[in-house]
Amino acid sequence: MTQDELKQAVARAAIEYVPAGEIIGVGTGSTANFFIDELGKIKGRVKGAVASSEATAARLKSHGIPVLDLNEVESMSVYIDGADEINPQGDMIKGGGAALTREKIVASVADRFVCIADGSKLVDVLGAFPLPVEVIPMAQAAVARKLKTFGGEPRLRVKDGKPVITDNGCMIIDLVGLKIAKPAELEAQINNIPGVVTVGLFAQRGADIALLGTAEGVKKLSF
Ligand code: 5RP
Repeated sequence: MTQDELKQAVARAAIEYVPAGEIIGVGTGSTANFFIDELGKIKGRVKGAVASSEATAARLKSHGIPVLDLNEVESMSVYIDGADEINPQGDMIKGGGAALTREKIVASVADRFVCIADGSKLVDVLGAFPLPVEVIPMAQAAVARKLKTFGGEPRLRVKDGKPVITDNGCMIIDLVGLKIAKPAELEAQINNIPGVVTVGLFAQRGADIALLGTAEGVKKLSF
């Protein structure tokens, strides 16, 4: 199976976690896109969705799924999203698609985080995937110097020769070359640097369930 077929398989499996008549939170990225396409097939089941990015909002709307402002939503039973890495404890690195801040916000309002990913995302130790950190533009250089003290190499994320700008008007620094032994501690330390909006470590609020696509089928991990 290709990586896309594995992502499609977990996207289909995640439909089981969509509660009838409720509002759900929806993540960002290629796996989340497959999930949105599956959700489109049963769109009458949900009342609506809160999107974690402008791209996700546009895709939900293209399927006729109502998109709600988070300020109008008090609670959600489930948030469904992909990950760049997930460890056996359910801690994740996210933000490969630069949507980490809104993803973390929407996830924080949901009772359960269902992570959907192809099996290659499961790792023993987080950090082979560069750790995204969203920063206020004026603080970019200062934050990069502080991030160096954690042992990795900070790199400003650039696309087509220009810094990537997030939906929040901020920049992304990717911290390359970490081996993250204590994800929740590192999450707190990086979040505490002035100028950091969000670090893409999801450990203080990790996944509750992971659906991982493998050649042998979809494997479910509960945390
Ligand atoms: C976006 C994310 C994505 O969930 C993560 O990058 C995984 O993406 P994909 O499903 O395309 O592999 O955190 O900010």
